[in-house]
Amino acid sequence: MTEPKTPAGFVSLVSAGPGDPELLTLKAANRLAAADVVLFDDLASGPVLDQAGPQAELIAVGKRAGRPSARQDHVNQLLVQYAQAGHRVVRLKSGDAGIFGRLEEELLALTEAGIPFEIIPGVTSASAAAAAAGIPLTRRLTSRRVQFITGADVTGDLPADINWAAIADPAVTTVVFMGQRSFTRLAQGLREHGLPGDTPALFAEAVGHPQQRLLRTTVDGLARELQGIEVVNPGLIMFGPLAFRPGS
Ligand SMILES: C[S@@+](CC[C@H](N)C(=O)[O-])C[C@H]1O[C@@H](n2cnc3c(N)ncnc32)[C@H](O)[C@@H]1O
Repeated sequence: MTEPKTPAGFVSLVSAGPGDPELLTLKAANRLAAADVVLFDDLASGPVLDQAGPQAELIAVGKRAGRPSARQDHVNQLLVQYAQAGHRVVRLKSGDAGIFGRLEEELLALTEAGIPFEIIPGVTSASAAAAAAGIPLTRRLTSRRVQFITGADVTGDLPADINWAAIADPAVTTVVFMGQRSFTRLAQGLREHGLPGDTPALFAEAVGHPQQRLLRTTVDGLARELQGIEVVNPGLIMFGPLAFRPGS
């Protein structure tokens, strides 16, 4: 462990954005520059870590679907231990830390241990994907609601308690996180609940990374595209009255 720097430690739960360091907030960059220890997820690695100062100890605690990862209780334990040793700790999470990021578990562990913390919000991959595709997330008259859902429950399967009426609503923009593997089944459910198969859909892969790929298609087209794929990069799915013509 690095030598303690402050008598009482502090944890900054920092949003890393989608991967492009220019999408870090100034506050996030400042916390990284001042950190003694940075605990980072797989998706919050790469060039954003260059913002950490030379004094920082960088520790990978990656959580990535289908790959080995540190257990959540081990991550909680590390956060508490480093803070109790007096360090300025940055816990770096991809996108916005408060969206599908297991933030609550870490907040609870810090609260129980009496460790002071702050949360630094950031650019979620949902906003970054829409921006990369040149579209808004909402549209006047046609899309007055945005909903973020997960395509994978703790076991990695499509959640069993999906609110089909809500996600088959044709007047809503739905963003599916962690949904590549289950999208074919999700699309089938959407059709069964009345959402037309030609509803525009966007697949945004590795947004903010050099290998970024955008596919403008339809719900049915994307279901075919993603059938049986091996997931290599993080990908986000968006569907609803999106502001493009499929295939454009
Ligand atoms: C554990 S969730 C974290 C989401 C993150 N907190 C956010 O606000 O973007 C991980 C999922 O976010 C999405 N994701 C994160 N970074 C991404 C990126 N750069 N490009 C596309 N999707 C991304 C993918 O759906 C991925 O499976």
